[in-house]
Amino acid sequence: MSSSTPDSSTPDSSTPDVPATAASRTAAPDDAARQVALVVGAQGVIGRGIVDELLRRGDWDVVGLSRRGGETAPRLRHVAVDLLDPAASRERLAGLTDVTHVFYAAFQDRPTPSELVAPNVAMLRNVLDAIEPVAPGLRHVSLMQGYKVYGAHLGPFTTPAREDEPGHMPPEFNVDQQALLEERRAGAAWTWSAIRPSVVAGYALGNPMNLAMVIAVYASISKELGLPLRFPGTQGAYDTLMEMTDAGLLARAVVWAGTDERCADGAFNIANGDLFRWNRMWPAIAGAFGLEVAPPLPLQLDAVMADKEPVWDAMVERHGLAPNAYADVSSWAFGDAVFSWDYDFFADGSKARRHGFHEHVDTEAMFLEIFADLRRRRVIP
Ligand SMILES: NC(=O)c1ccc[n+]([C@@H]2O[C@H](COP(=O)([O-])OP(=O)(O)OC[C@H]3O[C@@H](n4cnc5c(N)ncnc54)[C@H](OP(=O)(O)O)[C@@H]3O)[C@@H](O)[C@H]2O)c1
Repeated sequence: MSSSTPDSSTPDSSTPDVPATAASRTAAPDDAARQVALVVGAQGVIGRGIVDELLRRGDWDVVGLSRRGGETAPRLRHVAVDLLDPAASRERLAGLTDVTHVFYAAFQDRPTPSELVAPNVAMLRNVLDAIEPVAPGLRHVSLMQGYKVYGAHLGPFTTPAREDEPGHMPPEFNVDQQALLEERRAGAAWTWSAIRPSVVAGYALGNPMNLAMVIAVYASISKELGLPLRFPGTQGAYDTLMEMTDAGLLARAVVWAGTDERCADGAFNIANGDLFRWNRMWPAIAGAFGLEVAPPLPLQLDAVMADKEPVWDAMVERHGLAPNAYADVSSWAFGDAVFSWDYDFFADGSKARRHGFHEHVDTEAMFLEIFADLRRRRVIP
């Protein structure tokens, strides 16, 4: 049971660096044998980035899977299905006979760790049950995990967390999903990889874990109400060491690990590569909104922002914003969780580097670019 060994089948961590192309299975853009990716959770803050990255590369055909579906584009089609329904999943995925890679980044939110297990394990199982029998060319299944594997959400955890940290007391759906992959891998022709990002920043609407959106909407409403920007967490959280993962960087890492044989059957921490403290980041964020910074004041955003829908609706009208419902730009409970972490929150990213992934992102620049992107999309003023 992998709950005691979160990275029980990782490759030798002493594997020397090898040029990224040397062992890559990625085909050249004009290769006749195109690769076909099934991106599960294609409308999520992580899945959207994976779809974009695969399309950018030019040598992939992409199938996006979610309940809501999406717009087709060259080399992109969507399947809309509820993965909690096994029969519907088998029926809707039966035609995906050419899938070579599954990139799994779906997520069902539930209030407690134990409630998260059943739906999230069932969705992954239903994908495997539907795809394995029909797609003989399946080569790889990539699983999106997170620092929950290390108990990061429970309290102070060992930092920098390594992929081979000892497990913690279940329930933990990420660990059970990995155990399912390891079990199904036995005797299969495909390999798996598990990617463990920190808090992810990217663009998505209507998702429960979206920190950049939390900050952007909180700052925009602060401005609308004539308030300075106050960090809404504790002083301890303001001062602690933290790291984030850019959704674009994450997508590049996911595709790298999913196509490089050195990464087969292993887990990899992926973060931007710089540590920060909110007490330094907050003034830069305030600057991006033309706001003054005031001292932190711990708030329960989920409660305090609950009555701000009329403010948001008036902002949409007054600033000519895209007509996004307040619920679709609100991940307040997630903000409350992140801004309560008054302990070091980072992992050891050296294993990915040892295996050939060397990219990094400046986290301050990442935030500023995401806010600019949200303005371009008319999500915020
Ligand atoms: N966001 C973060 O900061 C973060 C950080 C570390 C790790 N992670 C992990 O990364 C994974 C993905 O998280 P995320 O934040 O990207 O999730 P997300 O933004 O909520 O996206 C979830 C995706 O799954 C789809 N989905 C949900 N229920 C479904 C169902 N029953 N059938 C089919 N599709 C379904 C959603 O689309 P529909 O709603 O249209 O179905 C959406 O495309 C999770 O395991 C999470 O723990 C996230």
